[in-house]
Amino acid sequence: MAVSIRDVARAAGVSVGTVSNVLNNPEKVANATVSKVRSAVDALGFVRNDAARQLRAGKSRCIGLVVLDVRNPFFTDLARGVEDAATEHDMSVLLANSDEDSSRELAMLSLFEQQRVHGVLVTPVGDDLSPLIRARERGTPIVLVDRRSHDENFSSVSVDDVAGGYLAASHLIETGRKKLAFVGGPMAIQQVSDRLQGAKKRVDESVDISLEVIPCKSLSIVSGREVGLEILSRKQSDRPTAIFAANDLVAIGILQTCLTSDEIKIPQDLSLIGYDDIGFASTAIVALTSVRQPTHEMGVRAFELLIQESEQTEPRPERVRIEFQPQLVVRDST
Ligand code: RIB
Repeated sequence: MAVSIRDVARAAGVSVGTVSNVLNNPEKVANATVSKVRSAVDALGFVRNDAARQLRAGKSRCIGLVVLDVRNPFFTDLARGVEDAATEHDMSVLLANSDEDSSRELAMLSLFEQQRVHGVLVTPVGDDLSPLIRARERGTPIVLVDRRSHDENFSSVSVDDVAGGYLAASHLIETGRKKLAFVGGPMAIQQVSDRLQGAKKRVDESVDISLEVIPCKSLSIVSGREVGLEILSRKQSDRPTAIFAANDLVAIGILQTCLTSDEIKIPQDLSLIGYDDIGFASTAIVALTSVRQPTHEMGVRAFELLIQESEQTEPRPERVRIEFQPQLVVRDST
């Protein structure tokens, strides 16, 4: 049986109100009483029931964050930014993983609604945002993170991934590469299709550059390795001379496959660029060139937008779209 505030009051010989004051506004209580109550709290092992307090207040001190893949360091860096901002507001973050699966995204969203969280930050899996709109209409503030909102339904924090793809292809072309390949997937993920769109835009501006699109099952190291093996199986003349991977994990998978073969040297035979600039990019055995996203800052700004959203009272609050520009970080792999 959990120790109640009444048990503490009885043990300290004070009223329940005095215990509440000691817990919430100790500066209003005489020092002797504060130490008497705190001794009773320690002796009985009393723990405040914040969930009940938040339910009474109708406002949770938690926010929900639904990301595509918690195993991807991009999202843990993003979550760290959200958490650092939440801590400043004496709030905490409940992290959930959609695994790039719309039904899991929906299940996590419902769970957070039932928990009456203060609001939800979500990186949507697909283009159908109607479940998010319905949740928002039921009273849960929602902000999109790592996805630009295309209408007045949501505020959002994202990076211009089309510009990022353009930047990546430009760098490969400027290093003299002419047979480019884009490795990414599923294409249903907006970030992937935008990066490809940017690379295509840059290649279309050149006359003697080709761009092969090599789909992969997921934005993971394993998928990158599979593509690396497929490229190794080709005749040398059929291989690309430069690869733009849709994120650093895919690039690292390709890097690992090439380095364990003695046929493809990076960057001599194949230039390789990733996207995100996660910690493993700079520490890879051949330091990976990458398109950097201001990941931590995106998390901080997304949290701040969510708080603004939760404090707005107008029926059609004005939405804010923050879009960061990506930055090229050149390393040994190109
Ligand atoms: O999860 C897919 C990718 O989208 C991540 O690697 C990151 O680039 C995000 O923007």
